[in-house]
Amino acid sequence: MDLPPGARMLDLACGSGEMLCTWARDHHITGTGVDISTVFLASARARAIELDVAEQVTFIHGDASNHVADEPVDIGACIGATWIGDGVAGTVELLRRSVRPGGILLIGEPYWRRDPPDQVTVEACHANRKDDFRPLPNLLAQFGELGCDVVEMVLADQDSWDRYIAAQWLNIRRWLDANPDDELADQMRVELATAPAQYARYQREYLGWGVFALMTR
Ligand SMILES: C[S@@+](CC[C@H](N)C(=O)[O-])C[C@H]1O[C@@H](n2cnc3c(N)ncnc32)[C@H](O)[C@@H]1O
Repeated sequence: MDLPPGARMLDLACGSGEMLCTWARDHHITGTGVDISTVFLASARARAIELDVAEQVTFIHGDASNHVADEPVDIGACIGATWIGDGVAGTVELLRRSVRPGGILLIGEPYWRRDPPDQVTVEACHANRKDDFRPLPNLLAQFGELGCDVVEMVLADQDSWDRYIAAQWLNIRRWLDANPDDELADQMRVELATAPAQYARYQREYLGWGVFALMTR
C-alpha cells in the first residue's frame, strides 16, 4: 500500500500485534493496537521489544468496539474480528471514525468459497447461519454499498490455509506429549484425532478468507 515512513495506524483487536510490529520494523510506521486479551497484549509487547520497535507501537488493553483514535490515523485495521462492530458494516463505520479523509481501512473477513450445502457445513466453518458470511463477489459489492472503493486485497488459498491450520495440529501434539495428565488432555486428544478430516471436509473447501483495503469514496 505504499506506506510513507511515519504513517500512523490503529489496529482494533490487534491480537499479538504481529502486523503492527512487523510493519513498524519494515515500513517505519507508528501505531496503536487495542485488544481485550491481556495474554495477547503481553505477547505483542514482547514482540515489539524483540523487533526493536517498542518506541513506535503502543498496546492498549480494552474493548475495541467503541475505540476511536485521539488523532485521525492513516490506516485503521480490524483483521478477523468484525464482531466488534456487529459485522462488516458496523466495523467500517467504527474505523471511519478514526481514519483521516483519504486514509485506508483494512478489514479481514471470511467469505464462502463455495455455497455451504447444509447447517453442519455452516457450523463447521465457525458460522451460526449461512448469512453470517457472503460469497466473495457479494462481500466486495457490500464494501461498495458502504461507500468504499476496494483498492487492494489479499486472499488465502488452500495451501496457505493448510499452513495456518496444520501448524495448530503440531502444536496440539507437542502439547499433549508434554502435558499428558492435564485436565484438558482428553479433550485435546479428541480434537487432534478429528480436526484434520474435519478441516479437509469443510473449512478447506468452503471457507475463504481475505484482507481487504478500502478507501471511502
Ligand atoms: C481472530 S483474532 C485476530 C487477531 C489479530 N487481528 C490478527 O489478525 O492476528 C481476534 C482477536 O480479537 C480480540 N477481541 C475479541 N473481542 C474483542 C473486543 N471486544 N475488543 C478488543 N479485542 C477483542 C481477541 O482477543 C483476539 O485477539
